Formats: sequence, C-alpha cells, structure tokens
Amino acid sequence: MPEITSESKKLTVRKGPARIPENPRAVFSDSLVVSHFFNAMSLLFPRGEEFFIDSVRKFADRTPAELKDEVKAFIGQEAMHGKVHRSWNNNTQEKGYDVRTVAELMEKVLGNFDRLDFIHPALGLSMTAALEHVTATQSAWFLRHPEFVGRLEESARDITLWHSCEEIEHRHVAFDLLKAVDDGYALRIGGHLLGQVLLWGSAFYGMGLILSQEKSASLAEMVADLRRNLPGLAEFTKNNIVQFFEYFRPDFHPEDDDSRPLARAYLAEKKIA
Ligand SMILES: [Fe+2]
Ligand SMILES: [Fe+2]
Repeated sequence: MPEITSESKKLTVRKGPARIPENPRAVFSDSLVVSHFFNAMSLLFPRGEEFFIDSVRKFADRTPAELKDEVKAFIGQEAMHGKVHRSWNNNTQEKGYDVRTVAELMEKVLGNFDRLDFIHPALGLSMTAALEHVTATQSAWFLRHPEFVGRLEESARDITLWHSCEEIEHRHVAFDLLKAVDDGYALRIGGHLLGQVLLWGSAFYGMGLILSQEKSASLAEMVADLRRNLPGLAEFTKNNIVQFFEYFRPDFHPEDDDSRPLARAYLAEKKIA
C-alpha cells in the first residue's frame, strides 16, 4: 500500500464548475441512452449526499479528534457536489423530463431511514461508508478511462471529473468514522448490501423514468444505441462488480488501492487548486 501522508490526505473544499450540460440528450456523444444514464446518476446525488452528510453528523460526538477536520471537509465537499448536481437536475426538469418522483422516492426512503435505528443506529453510516467505496472506485475508473469520459460533453465531463477527484480524496472518511463508532463486520456488510439495493434500484428507476419520457427516439433505436455502447458500459459494470466483492474482505480499507495520484494529476492538469 502506498504511504499516505497527512499532507496528501488533506481535503480541500472547492467551488464546483459553474457550467452544467444544457442539452440532456447530448451529455454523452452519440448515445442518448448513456446520456440518460449520466442524467439519472446526477438525480441521485443531491439527496444521497445530504444523507451521507447527516449520517456522519449523527456521530459528531463520537468522531475521533484526528478525524474531525476530515469530516468537516467531507461535509463541505458533499454539500458542494449536491449543489452542482441540483443545477444539472433542474435543467433536466426544465428541458421537459419530469424527474421529480426520483427526489420524492429518495426522500421517502432516506428521510425515514432513522426508523431502522432499531437494527443498528450506525446502519446509515455503514451504508454511507459502503457507497463512498462505490463512488470512489467509479471515480478512479473514470480517471483511468479517458476514452470513455472523453465522450462526455465538456461541462458534464468537468463536473464528473471534479466530483470524481473529491470522491477519491475523501474515500476513507466515512469508513474510518464507522470503524471508530463500531467496526463490526456484520454492520459493515449490512450497510453495503442495503446501499447497493438502494443505489441501483434508484438509478434504474431514474433511468427508466427519463427514457420512458423520451420522444426523440423509438424503443428500437434505444436498444440499438445500448448495443453500440455495450463494450464501454460492460467495462464499467465489471469494475463495479469487482469492487462490490472487494468490500467483503475482512481487512478491507478504502486506501488499499490508492487512486489519489490520478486525482492529483487531473487537478494539476486542470489547474484546480
Ligand atoms: Fe460527492
Ligand atoms: Fe463522497
């Protein structure tokens, strides 16, 4: 495992990109279906990241002193991600797709999550730690596959890669807090499984909702579009599956595979401080 110094772990809360993709149908070049995959993923971020913030705040009084600054920066970064993706989502709504039910569904589930406290009060934190592993490893995949992200429209690419870098930077925060609160294996895996069901359930619901309102292409055209883009999507899916199983390792830690150099290289290239 590469050495991670406290300096390299330092988290920076940055102002996100100001521009958002104007045309929801052209987020990803030559693919309406992949464009709507990114639009659907964007729909999950504002409420999902608010949930992440609440789940770490809930344990403010049990946060180890050495983790406090990182938790604070984690909250700052996630709040900024939510803000930028909210603008993206508002544009999707304004351009004629009624996506409000995604936010409503997420509110119903995540807004009432504390009702599951009887299972374990840190179940939400465990889910956050697991979903942070998903976002960090998807982020590393994006940075390692410029041929894929290169097909994103410029503002969508700027948002995706800025968000990716910060997900990589703070990948350990919720996990380390969970370990400090309760490092039980069953709790960690319970959050992992529940998180995966909620994440992919809402992602496919969002994508189905957008595609069902799409008037610019027939079902046959969308199937052909999907088939054309299957190789890239299959690689992305394979990475998700490998990382899903990786999380089951009893000695797993988010920093086992450190992708910070990728994030640092991108931020330096883009001159983002
Ligand atoms: Fe985020
Ligand atoms: Fe995150």
